[in-house]
Amino acid sequence: MEEIQNAPPATALVIFGSTGNLAQKKLIPALYHLLKGGYLPHDFSVVCVARDNTATVDSIVDKAKSSLARHEQEVDESVFARLKERMQMIIMDSTNQDDFHSLKNVLDSIDEYSQKKHNRLFYLAIPPAIFTSVISCLGNVGLNNEEEGAARRILVEKPFGTNLTSAKELVGHIAEHFGEQQVYRIDHYLAKETAQNLLAFRFNNPIIEDLWGRQFIDHIQITAAETIDIEGRADFYEGMGALRDLVQSHLLQLLALTMMEVPQPLNSENIHAEKLAILEAVRPIKFNHVDETAVRGQYKGYRDETGNQESNVETFAALHLEVANSRWGGVPVLVRTGKALADKMTEITLVFRDRTRRKVEPNLLTIRIQPNEGIGIRLQAKKPGFTDDLQPVNMDFCYQTSFDGVQPDAYERVLVDAIIGDQSLFATSAEVLRCWEILEPIIDVWQQDDSQLHFYEKGTWGPESAFELASSYGCEWLSNTSHVCAVHPADFQKVEAPQTDTM
Ligand code: BG6
Repeated sequence: MEEIQNAPPATALVIFGSTGNLAQKKLIPALYHLLKGGYLPHDFSVVCVARDNTATVDSIVDKAKSSLARHEQEVDESVFARLKERMQMIIMDSTNQDDFHSLKNVLDSIDEYSQKKHNRLFYLAIPPAIFTSVISCLGNVGLNNEEEGAARRILVEKPFGTNLTSAKELVGHIAEHFGEQQVYRIDHYLAKETAQNLLAFRFNNPIIEDLWGRQFIDHIQITAAETIDIEGRADFYEGMGALRDLVQSHLLQLLALTMMEVPQPLNSENIHAEKLAILEAVRPIKFNHVDETAVRGQYKGYRDETGNQESNVETFAALHLEVANSRWGGVPVLVRTGKALADKMTEITLVFRDRTRRKVEPNLLTIRIQPNEGIGIRLQAKKPGFTDDLQPVNMDFCYQTSFDGVQPDAYERVLVDAIIGDQSLFATSAEVLRCWEILEPIIDVWQQDDSQLHFYEKGTWGPESAFELASSYGCEWLSNTSHVCAVHPADFQKVEAPQTDTM
């Protein structure tokens, strides 16, 4: 990461849910890296909130350390020791308002000790069921009030509601206590390095920007495939499903970043305005057309895993969308995500029209969000030899070879941006609501069980119906053996539709 310009302001970070998975796997490791790299403010304190009275700073740090040790060869103990010096613990009930007075006292004493008003960030790494109660308590004891220029911000993890109605209620509830400029709705995909590069790449390479539209693009594919299944999180996933979990948030945000107009000038406000304009231009899905627009799948074994033999919750979703504006009208946008698929990869591919009319394989431009991060173009070249045979070839740039391969984790970026008060990579309430609105017809139809659920084997690319969906729009899903930064680029191929059953 480059130097953060201007000294970051004195900050107290309060982590609600400090003994949870997110804190252990992402937040504390992110703080460790930021401290190691010198990116945290000089005056920086972490207040860990937990209900469990056996929790201590040591136990929280120890868990984070073992989580980090699974991915990194070396863990610098001295950095953890320095981090611990900045951490303190408060055992409290996050739903009990009286306890928030104690939290306020702790935060006031941090200000008093250093003789500095700290910005206060409240990170809600807690189950959505207690979001509203924590927000009310913060507001009711005045922890939302910005005083003497010191900011008060809340960082909210997804899911932001479970449908349009509940999301609207949550927006309304938060707005009773915090202004929009105080709310940081995290979508960690936006904070991924490659998602940010999408904007840099598009807007700073004129040869690319000129090709960005219906005249040259045949269709767009956005895939977020995971190899993991629900990993025992039955309670969470049964109320969620792939559409709510990944499409409503990460994938529609990637769609907006890919298809938006150039924000002029490029600042947070304009980025949000342009993203919203794209989301608003997504053609509404008609209730009676959901079956032609979206496919849901469930991996075999899911029902046994959740103990719910009736479950229709989808672990796979594929959709056709269209952005009905002058730049993109008529260009199919295919979006898919799933658990227990053949490979882990998130990728956006623009498939170019064959303007030669010679039926050559289409040119592709792929933004590989993860892993093997990079951007690649698939071109046709003449094969060496005495014939004019063509062979697809790749031109790509890979983070691994173009840079040193080290990228800050998305949560490091989330924390840095929240500390410096940059909302560019967070979702606004208008974006979140519009994303729910786009998907509302599908959610409703799927909830009424009016749509087929297709089963697929673990380790495949989802149900056959997803392939049929793509072909009904004249498209074909591209496989994970992507041409971007792949180990064996020659392996690039179309995937065969697997055999699956239908309920
Ligand atoms: C989260 C979802 O938002 O993203 C999870 O709730 C999913 O279900 C995760 O596994 C994927 O994130 P990443 O960064 O591993 O692609």
